[in-house]
Amino acid sequence: MPGLKAPSDYSQEPPRHPSLKINSKDPFNAEPPRAALISSYVTSVDFFYKRNHGPIPIVDDLERYRVSIGGLVEQSIELSMDELRKLPKYNITATLQCAGNRRTAMSKMRTVKGVGWDIAALGNATWGGAKLSDVLEIVGIPKLSSNSSLGGRHVEFISVDKCKEEKGDPYKASISLRQATNPEADVLLAYEMNGEVLNRDHGFPLRVIVPGVIGARSVKWLDRIDIIKDECQGFFMQKDYKMFPPSVDWDNIDWSTRKSQMDFPVQCAICSLEDDNLINQGKITVAGYAVSGGGRGIERVDISVDGGKKWIEAGRYQKDMPYFADDDLGSEKWAWVLFKAVVDAPENGEIIAKAVDTAANVQPENVDVIWNLRGILNTSWHRVRVQKASYVAKSNL
Ligand code: MTE
Repeated sequence: MPGLKAPSDYSQEPPRHPSLKINSKDPFNAEPPRAALISSYVTSVDFFYKRNHGPIPIVDDLERYRVSIGGLVEQSIELSMDELRKLPKYNITATLQCAGNRRTAMSKMRTVKGVGWDIAALGNATWGGAKLSDVLEIVGIPKLSSNSSLGGRHVEFISVDKCKEEKGDPYKASISLRQATNPEADVLLAYEMNGEVLNRDHGFPLRVIVPGVIGARSVKWLDRIDIIKDECQGFFMQKDYKMFPPSVDWDNIDWSTRKSQMDFPVQCAICSLEDDNLINQGKITVAGYAVSGGGRGIERVDISVDGGKKWIEAGRYQKDMPYFADDDLGSEKWAWVLFKAVVDAPENGEIIAKAVDTAANVQPENVDVIWNLRGILNTSWHRVRVQKASYVAKSNL
């Protein structure tokens, strides 16, 4: 691709914020500290998790950069950044969550394969760009199409980065044509993040944002968009990011038996506390995020300070305002909901959070029932341990 090149090594990586917790250096995978994650409704670019599978591409000539749109279309086109910027611009606030979020906790139950993540492999940003549904109209595919006239049913996004899993070829993924051409699905070709030009880590000059879907489908550093008949056959669609039952392990896996994961399930986590907390005070703030996939809102966040016997409901907020799970009342349906409750701290016990989405989906109680060999979609109740200093002093007597 003219204008955009993919280094073969990690010698030209961009600068990053020093307080990110690095889970893997090359490729760079990092997340912010828990408390920093919920310090604002919109996550700053610096603190937004970074999930890469190869060295970060470099734009050497933005004037020459083009994204091509082809495959099963009557007439392929190439669009420059100027041409994309002339299309109607949308600003969509959407939470991007890696399917591997909370993998480390799942691996404690039984080993899984993959980069370890605590609870911050997600962020909530305002993405600016053109709608994919508008761009596909330019190549003759009307809004709300499931099939193109030449038999296309999927839209494949191909990057330039060199990924080990693809044997040095670029990262790629696809979504259905139905989702891509639905203006209400808000799939964006994004060139801005929080009002600024995308930075290199997050996909400069152009990336896809597929709201409500696991982050793996939001391809960064776009080179090509192809309309294709069958789903993308890339590694990350066919041999990764699929949810298997706990009975499947590496000796009996058949990747073809499961679908590529798209929407993420209901999730929440406490960010105001670490896994183990030694505290002095009687009252404690339990705050965090809750989010569901597919544009479903958050109906409730329940908190327990006695290991799950009794529950109280946390307050829910978006943009520092009380949240109602209804777009007509101004809620942002692709964005997370922050929650907060001030509770009496246990002497020595577990604080738990679980969320319920607007379809009444609830997080599972224990991780063992959703364990899977790739360690994806750990949405089990989030538990942290609390001990009062007075309790510890007494028990050390
Ligand atoms: N796109 C490319 N080209 N290469 C990648 O490694 N990682 C994917 C997705 N898009 C990836 C990619 C995954 S797994 C996730 S979770 C998100 O990007 C992370 O986006 P972020 O780094 O902007 O947070």
